[in-house]
Amino acid sequence: MSGRERRWNHNIHYYPLVLAAVPPGCQRALDVGCGEGMLARQLADRVPQVVGIDQDAASVAAARRQGPDSQVGFVRGDFLAHPFPPASFGLISCVAALHHMDPGAALARMSQLLAPGGTLVVVGLARSRLPDLPRDAVAVITNLGHRVTKGYWQHPSPTVWPPPHSHPEIRVLAGETLPGARYRRHLLWRYSLVWVKPGFRSCHALSAECSGLPQYPGGRPVPAARRVGLGYRTSCPGCGCAGIEPSRPAW
Ligand SMILES: C[S@@+](CC[C@H](N)C(=O)[O-])C[C@H]1O[C@@H](n2cnc3c(N)ncnc32)[C@H](O)[C@@H]1O
Repeated sequence: MSGRERRWNHNIHYYPLVLAAVPPGCQRALDVGCGEGMLARQLADRVPQVVGIDQDAASVAAARRQGPDSQVGFVRGDFLAHPFPPASFGLISCVAALHHMDPGAALARMSQLLAPGGTLVVVGLARSRLPDLPRDAVAVITNLGHRVTKGYWQHPSPTVWPPPHSHPEIRVLAGETLPGARYRRHLLWRYSLVWVKPGFRSCHALSAECSGLPQYPGGRPVPAARRVGLGYRTSCPGCGCAGIEPSRPAW
C-alpha cells in the first residue's frame, strides 16, 4: 500500500474485517459502492480479479486515476441494475453504501451474484435510537483518540445521512434475506453482516478450472471436514482440490 493510502476514517477502520473474510482460493471479488476504490485496491492484494462499482462519476474517475492496475476494474453504474452474471463472485463487499439503496433489494442482488460458498461482507450504517446513547458516548471518546493519533480522511464520495433504517430493522431484514448471516454491531457507528452462501465452495465454484459439482462418493474415502472460520475445510470430491463449505458436509 502506498503512503497516500495511510488514511483513517470510520469505514477504513473496518476494512480489515472485509479483508479477513476473503475465502481461500477466491478468484473474483466485487466491491459495491466502491467510492474512490481504496478497498478494491486492498482486495487486489489477495484476489486476482477485483471489480468496484459505483454510480458516482467523480468517484469512479478518482478510482481509475489511482488504480491503473489491470487487476482492478471500475464500473460506473447502479449496482441494482448492472448486468453482472449470477454466481460470479467469490467475495462481495459493501462498505457504507447499503443505506444508499433499498437494502432488501440490494442484499437479494448480492446473494444472487455470489458463487455458492462465497462470502458477503457488508459494513453498514444504521440509525441510532435512544437506548444507543451510552454506546454512542463511548464511541465519541474512542473516535477522538483515533483522530488524535491517526487524523481523519474525508472521502470524496456521496453520503446519505441519517441512515434510514435502525439496527434492529437491518438485523431482521438480514435474517430474512440471508438466513444464517452473522450481524455484529461495532463501536464506531458501523455494523457488519457476514454471510456465506450455502453450497460447495471449491475451485469449481470460484474458478472455471474444476468442472461440475461434487460426484461423491463413488467408493472414494470420505474427506475429513475441519472447522475454519465460518465454514468447514474439506476437499472437493470432484477433483480433490481444497474447498470450504459453509456448513459441515453431509457425506
Ligand atoms: C459513503 S460512500 C462509501 C464509499 C466507500 N465504500 C468507502 O468505504 O468509503 C457510498 C458510495 O455508494 C455509492 N452508491 C450508492 N448507491 C449506489 C448504487 N445503487 N450503485 C452503485 N453505487 C452506489 C455512492 O455513489 C457512494 O460513492
